[in-house]
Amino acid sequence: MDFATLIKPLSTNEFAAKAGANESFVIFGKGERDFTDLLSLAEIETALNSGCNISSPINIITEDGLRAPVIDENVAWSTMALKKTEITKLLESGHSFMMPNMSQINESVANLIDDIEKTVDHSRADLHLYVSTSNDATGYMAHRDRPQHKIYLQVIGNTSWKLFSHTDDLPNEQVSIEEKDEDKYLTEIMDFTMEPGDVLFMPSGQIHKVRNHDGPRMSFSIPIFIDIDNTKHHMDRSHIPFQKLFEDAS
Ligand SMILES: [Fe+2]
Repeated sequence: MDFATLIKPLSTNEFAAKAGANESFVIFGKGERDFTDLLSLAEIETALNSGCNISSPINIITEDGLRAPVIDENVAWSTMALKKTEITKLLESGHSFMMPNMSQINESVANLIDDIEKTVDHSRADLHLYVSTSNDATGYMAHRDRPQHKIYLQVIGNTSWKLFSHTDDLPNEQVSIEEKDEDKYLTEIMDFTMEPGDVLFMPSGQIHKVRNHDGPRMSFSIPIFIDIDNTKHHMDRSHIPFQKLFEDAS
């Protein structure tokens, strides 16, 4: 799936104009779009269980017998690690989980994120997966993400969204707003449910709160950092044809 298909019936120009107005909007799929081909539950399970940690990348043994990571350290997004036993217990007790920086989880996803970077000027994107295996699983308190804009895809299940404006009293450095302070700082401006095939755009800084009241869900959160000065490289998401290299040499 490419970016143009993702945002239909909007054209990429129409999408850019709406996003440029710096307001959140939803493209309801009305059952016309299906994101389930992008990523399967089995692939998430494989990623959860692979034990691979991209913050500790493979090392290449060099010609002089040493080792060195072969990485581009100057990309916009980095990563984190997994504690699997604890994750299993937390899933069993109704916690959602987030898998950050999964834009290379398979070739379909890699191609989509590459296409977003190609289509949106100066963009550096990635993919965070949000997954809940039960109803009413845990969710963040109301918060704002900066400096990145966000494209959010509902892949499986439903999510309930509230978007807020805030008073001038909210300290600029404050990212999250506790429930007890919502009345003090926040005014609800949008309240909607996202169903499979729906797409949401949120500009940087949009305060939002998400819950899943209606069964398990899988969601794509695509952060888009606009790197006007080209300070960060594009992540290299090309496919390494390991098996072919190996078999051709046999
Ligand atoms: Fe967020």
